Amino acid sequence: MNVPQHIAIIMDGNGRWALARGKERGEGHAAGVRALHDTLRNAADLGVRHLTVYAFSTENWNRPRGEVDALMALFAESITQYTPKLVESGVKLRFIGDLSRLGADHKAHLLQAVASTAECNTITLIVALSYSARWELNKAFVNGLEACRNKQLNPYDNPIEPFLETAGIPDPDLLIRTGGEQRISNFLLYQMAYTELYFTSTLWPDFSKADLEAAIKDFNSRERRYGALPDTDTTP
Ligand code: FPP
Repeated sequence: MNVPQHIAIIMDGNGRWALARGKERGEGHAAGVRALHDTLRNAADLGVRHLTVYAFSTENWNRPRGEVDALMALFAESITQYTPKLVESGVKLRFIGDLSRLGADHKAHLLQAVASTAECNTITLIVALSYSARWELNKAFVNGLEACRNKQLNPYDNPIEPFLETAGIPDPDLLIRTGGEQRISNFLLYQMAYTELYFTSTLWPDFSKADLEAAIKDFNSRERRYGALPDTDTTP
């Protein structure tokens, strides 16, 4: 089986998972962290090299203050709890997004975790936090324009890409969105130009190894042509 080297995931459905069990939304997010832990291990076992997850979007700042604070506290706790395990299993951690919107202590804590996994190379976990693709593209345009003005880059030589948050990371091969919605929600718009899209109604906390394998099996049934003709086509 051809295993996608980079999988991106929109982890949707934590709130509904909690509601269906008569629990608080926060418990759904905590279950979401456990699902992420299991999925990371399963993806690494299958040979996936990059896993990018949408943990918190720019738009999520508009959720009620209580939920935002609870999510930030959950991220901080999870980083403390899991960083030693990440190091032990060779997981390199990276964040993409506008971390300047986080408290200074919180940001320093995240960057410390990133530094401690710098030598790891089994799989890279990229966490999109305070991220939106339009924010990223706007920033990349501004920086690219500046680099062209300073004659450091040529405007016809793609001055945008070096300034994307994902610089140096290959584009995702497969996007998985759980929770039943079928949209991209401002996630990696530039990078997903040729990504295969897979939608499942499974709520994120329930996402299992079998669900991951089903997504990869579906990916294997796709023919990726990147705008070219099929391999079998022999017409001149
Ligand atoms: C969407 O569910 C999920 C989120 C906004 C948060 C996702 C975060 C995690 C799973 C934790 C990740 C942890 C780390 C350490 C990176 P929702 O609340 O929109 O669910 P709903 O659509 O059912 O309401």
